[in-house]
Amino acid sequence: MSMTKLKRDPEIHFDTIIIGSGIAGLNFALNAAKQGRVLIITKKKSIESSTNRAQGGIAAVLNKADRFEKHVQDTMEAGSFHNKRNAVEFMVKNSPEAICRLIELGVPFATNVQGKLLLTREGGHSERRIAFVGDYTGAAIEKTLLKKVAQNPKITLWEHTFAIDLLTIKKICYGVQIVRKKNVQNIFGNRIVLATGGLGQIFYYTTNPSISTGDGIAMAMRADLKCRDLEFLQFHPTALKIGGRTKFLLSEALRGEGAILLDRKGQRFMKKYNPKMDLAPRDIVARCVYQEDLNGGAFLDIRHKPSHEIELRFPSIYQRLLRYKLNLTKNLIPIAPAAHYSCGGVMTNLHGETKIKYLYAFGEVAWTGVHGANRLASNSLLEALVFSNQILRSPAREKMDQIPHFVKPALQPNSPKLVKKLKSIKYRIRKIMWEKVGVIRTTKGLKEAKQKLDILEAKLPHFPGLNILLKETENMLLTAKAVTQAALKRKKSLGGHYLLSPEKTKKTLKH
Ligand code: FAD
Ligand code: SIN
Repeated sequence: MSMTKLKRDPEIHFDTIIIGSGIAGLNFALNAAKQGRVLIITKKKSIESSTNRAQGGIAAVLNKADRFEKHVQDTMEAGSFHNKRNAVEFMVKNSPEAICRLIELGVPFATNVQGKLLLTREGGHSERRIAFVGDYTGAAIEKTLLKKVAQNPKITLWEHTFAIDLLTIKKICYGVQIVRKKNVQNIFGNRIVLATGGLGQIFYYTTNPSISTGDGIAMAMRADLKCRDLEFLQFHPTALKIGGRTKFLLSEALRGEGAILLDRKGQRFMKKYNPKMDLAPRDIVARCVYQEDLNGGAFLDIRHKPSHEIELRFPSIYQRLLRYKLNLTKNLIPIAPAAHYSCGGVMTNLHGETKIKYLYAFGEVAWTGVHGANRLASNSLLEALVFSNQILRSPAREKMDQIPHFVKPALQPNSPKLVKKLKSIKYRIRKIMWEKVGVIRTTKGLKEAKQKLDILEAKLPHFPGLNILLKETENMLLTAKAVTQAALKRKKSLGGHYLLSPEKTKKTLKH
């Protein structure tokens, strides 16, 4: 390995480099800027993130009747007690402070006329504890954080910049290889942060935006880092289903405010499955909705609530449904589950540290142990915020006077033939994952998925140099294989991993 004496070039050397501009990356950036120059890179426009799509809200103990122990207990129950208790306690105890921080930054949470926070409810919560901004909480948070980042002279943000790989040698991270303005560049930092979000795009039906292709998981695996609990994929029970396809999320807060779930005969089917009915933990409701959808259809119904209240409380869902000629206050809304959240990720400790020196991970890409086998609703924005708040505890490299030499491959342009081929591979990954590694799994199906993914891998084009679309497709494939492998290893159902044994039929779902 040759070492280069580093001239501190401000264009390529930063104190902190953050990959991702969702809640985890932006919040960490604002904290890190107190200690030096920060660069955020993001692969599309900065606003494009799961954060920007979050509807329901952010959970915290904010109500007098509520207790930290209750939030901890609800989180553990939703996670089938597969959670790491000390991480859950850490998150929950820091939850009121996290909301205060967002309020100070300017997030306009809904309040009553006395200025007291209004709190809603979602599945698995024994109390009202979810702070919200209409039905567009994530967009309100994202815009507020982006505004603060733009005002901070210590922070630089590069849009349309794709992180290819972490620059690591012998478990030390030096920087990131990126593609920006059609150039491959190596950039270096004293601290490097993965905040790349989730992997929902490896499934055919998903609530996730197009950026969620598991890049962070793939980069970490290529750097020889361990990922945990990837089999625990959370499927959201209520995505709008039109013409056989899911379109967008219908927030669980609708059920928190009284919406009920009906089968094709208009019966409340959750009665058959769980005493908590429509507000049972999400993994359970998702499987029941999946089952009812197979039986002929499942619907969300909030027609019994005053229409002016619903229009006011859920303005963007109301408007979006109108585009499909559905009126939330007058019609039954057809629903089906969709891949929503990865409970697993890159292993980190309470300070966001990974097993690679100077490399940290926060947000959905990280495994902190908080979510166990199934995340409690509205705990992910909270987790991202609480864990990324701890800048002072995550040490950065003090000096970087010598860096190893990392090769920069040449960039290969897209050709129509390559684009067509990679599109088709992506489509097949998503179909395989939905059909074989979806809401309900069988060992046979998982084995078939593994085989089919291996065949697809052999079809990936090979040529010298680097191509972004190919890298993203490779990332999806690597992540899909890791999820499948993790699911194959877990021989019994737990939380979001539901394995149907051969003797059970479709009609015998048990919870
Ligand atoms: P994201 O917000 O997804 O940001 C990831 C960033 O990484 C993006 O900027 C992306 O461009 C960038 N990136 C990825 N790969 C690369 C690469 N290779 N190079 C450069 N940049 C890259 N949670 C709640 O707690 N409450 C809710 O109400 C809620 N509602 C939700 C509704 C929807 C529809 C969805 C999809 C999720 C919801 N969630 C909710 C989950 C929550 O929004 C996410 O878990 C959380 O926002 C993740 O934040 P993040 O910062 O980790 O990642
Ligand atoms: C929702 O609004 O239903 C999503 C909440 C979440 O994913 O936590």
